[in-house]
Amino acid sequence: MYNGNENVMICDHPLIKHKISMLRNKNTGTNEFRAIVEEIAMLIGYEALRDLEIEEVEIETPLEVAKCPVIAGKKQAIVPILRAGLGLVGGLLKLMPTAKVGHIGLYRDEETFEPQEYYCKLPSAIDQRKIFVVDPMLATGGSAIAAIDFIKQRGGKDINFLCVIAAPEGLEKLIAAHPDVKIYVGNLDRELNEKAYILPGLGDAGDRIFGTK
Ligand code: PRP
Ligand code: URA
Repeated sequence: MYNGNENVMICDHPLIKHKISMLRNKNTGTNEFRAIVEEIAMLIGYEALRDLEIEEVEIETPLEVAKCPVIAGKKQAIVPILRAGLGLVGGLLKLMPTAKVGHIGLYRDEETFEPQEYYCKLPSAIDQRKIFVVDPMLATGGSAIAAIDFIKQRGGKDINFLCVIAAPEGLEKLIAAHPDVKIYVGNLDRELNEKAYILPGLGDAGDRIFGTK
């Protein structure tokens, strides 16, 4: 919960905190960084999937036929915001192997910090899916807001947003723009700097995941 808002969950699990600290370390190399991001995706995803609907089906155990709970309800879609969001997909697919994956390509203009769209491809019947938009970083909030705008324009309704690190500025903007979206945050950091990077943050998530720069 964040400022009494039940749609926002800031993770407080020590494993998530520990792994995020490893990501912050500038000496953590690409290979390790990628693996840790995937682990964090599973840990935050575990929280985000807590309210998945279940239904009872009959299963024959070695001893008897029992009514047992299985995941039911809506099909899922994972939608990474390119590029850095790709780092979270593998972890979430381990939790939801049958989820479909859409992609939204956005980059931040380096001067205005405004998101620029370059790609959008979503799974079919997006209006009937439980959607998980993923991006490691929520900085000004511009990218997340634009991505969720696109999804809503294409009919998406049941939308969740997962990020590893958020700045308070971006989180407030996202809540104001999309109050219906459930937001899961690994850690709420202190602030943005003058270049709209998160402090203390972890630097440029895309560059650290893909070894670019
Ligand atoms: C990063 C990050 C988010 C965005 C967050 O992407 O992965 O998508 O910035 O910033 P915002 O909240 O201010 O919009 P970037 O634009 O660097 O692109 P990349 O993933 O291709 O590196
Ligand atoms: N995007 C990043 O990758 N890192 C930040 O700190 C802010 C935006």
